[in-house]
Amino acid sequence: MDLDFTILEQLTQIFGPSGSEERVAEFIANQLRPYCDELKTDTLGNLMVVRHGTGKKIMVAAHMDEIGLMITHLDKEGFLRFTPLGGVRIPNLVGQRVKFSKGRIGTIGVEKLDKPSDLKLDKLYIDIGVSSREEAEQIVHIGETAVFIGDFVESESKIISKALDDRIGCFVAIEALKRTKSTNELAFVFTVQEEIGIRGARTASYSLEPDLAIAVDVTATGDTPKAHPMSVKLGSGVGIKVLDHSMITSPRIKRWMAAIATERKIPFQWEVLEYGGTDSGAIHLSRGGVPSGVLSIPTRYVHSPAEMLDKRDVEAAVDLLVALLERATEL
Ligand code: CO
Ligand code: ZN
Repeated sequence: MDLDFTILEQLTQIFGPSGSEERVAEFIANQLRPYCDELKTDTLGNLMVVRHGTGKKIMVAAHMDEIGLMITHLDKEGFLRFTPLGGVRIPNLVGQRVKFSKGRIGTIGVEKLDKPSDLKLDKLYIDIGVSSREEAEQIVHIGETAVFIGDFVESESKIISKALDDRIGCFVAIEALKRTKSTNELAFVFTVQEEIGIRGARTASYSLEPDLAIAVDVTATGDTPKAHPMSVKLGSGVGIKVLDHSMITSPRIKRWMAAIATERKIPFQWEVLEYGGTDSGAIHLSRGGVPSGVLSIPTRYVHSPAEMLDKRDVEAAVDLLVALLERATEL
């Protein structure tokens, strides 16, 4: 398979922090309109893309939101204070550029620190280049959100960008829906507000009542200098999740996924993540419980403006998702 990553590039550069996913939803809807029977947005903003079929009802979930910052206060000189939206690492913030929804760019600055350990959120501010509160109020307002700036860079085997978490999951889902010949009932859900507590997936799975759910999201790796020990590596295949902080995958599901990957010669690796969660964490607890699994894309520097992944792992994820959609009746 040769994947064209142009759509991924476009996806990563769209503004979409938690709670403001509309532009991502609109882009995905335009991509998938010719490939589905029904497109709808629910109360929370999840985009549901349905293709009717006769077998099992399969929900595929990928979250549209990216981590960001929200303005809490504007001071007299026009500097902005903020709170994180999602798992932002404070030391990563200093010197970063951030972008607001209407395009204004700011730099994150830091007050004078007596010692490095004083670096806390309340020492940071965003400088949008104005000199008073009044001037700042012409451009931004309290409660407005910003995202990191992080260009999309593609090399022979790798991709670096902001927001690969989880536009890569959206991309894998889009590519799989375009390719699949599955006759099952398919509900692809592009969810909202995953980064701030897996919120969109919760209502979507309740209303859809799927027979099976597969989330696609990034996972960490253990293949960088002195990384926390973890067996996941870039380029070693799609991750099949065993455990994270939001779920333990049922042995029946992970064995089914691995058997199909093995049969189709799709490279995969077992993923045990000692923190974090995905949409499947909420979905598998919906109503009386939903059989759920996760396909993970190994990604370095998750939640930074320069996340990195390997294109071969993305191809493996698309291949395996396509195969699973066709073989779900065997589960
Ligand atoms: Co994330
Ligand atoms: Zn994610």
